[in-house]
Amino acid sequence: MAVDSAYISTDYIPDFNSPLKSFMQRRNFLTSVLLGTIILDPRLLWSKAKKACLTTSDAEGPYFKENSPFKNDLTQDFPATQAKKIVVTGRVLTDCENAISNAVVDVWHACPDKEYDMSKEYRCRAKIRTDKSGIYEFKTFLPSHYPGRPRHIHYKIRAKGFEELTTQLYFSGDPRLKNDYLYRKNGGTSRTSEVVATDTTNKVVFDIYLERS
Ligand SMILES: [Fe+2]
Repeated sequence: MAVDSAYISTDYIPDFNSPLKSFMQRRNFLTSVLLGTIILDPRLLWSKAKKACLTTSDAEGPYFKENSPFKNDLTQDFPATQAKKIVVTGRVLTDCENAISNAVVDVWHACPDKEYDMSKEYRCRAKIRTDKSGIYEFKTFLPSHYPGRPRHIHYKIRAKGFEELTTQLYFSGDPRLKNDYLYRKNGGTSRTSEVVATDTTNKVVFDIYLERS
């Protein structure tokens, strides 16, 4: 059926004697309108697909500090701790698939002593620059729980030509996730990664999708 003809189709004459027929007619009408909208403006589909490829933002929180040093190994901040070590890696991308090189990934999280380090030591804080394939990687501890929050790593990603993104990475299996206000409100499920034990380490993958500015 031509899209426009849906508006004049006699199929959409209510028949109150047949509730099922009336329901089907209304459904066909609404489907036609929806299809018509998509056919007339395919940009709506493309825009929706692009939105699905954007990493959602999350609260910055009160502990962000500018000027973290560039480093890839945060475990040296607490060399004696028994806290579980993880390697976090991923790609910074745009338009669902294109690598962003030279992006600066700024991360900070609660240290093994359950505190954010606000000193000039910048413990449990680092900046990492993406390589030509958009890959970033750093070694750190599985962040501590602290009152009221699940384990998480804060991220702030900056790249020339792209919108700055502030967000948080969560870890699957954390029992605190289901009751966390920020996690639920800000769509944290799409930013929850598994800690996968390999022969040599515990690996966490988190890809980040930025929007062009
Ligand atoms: Fe936090």
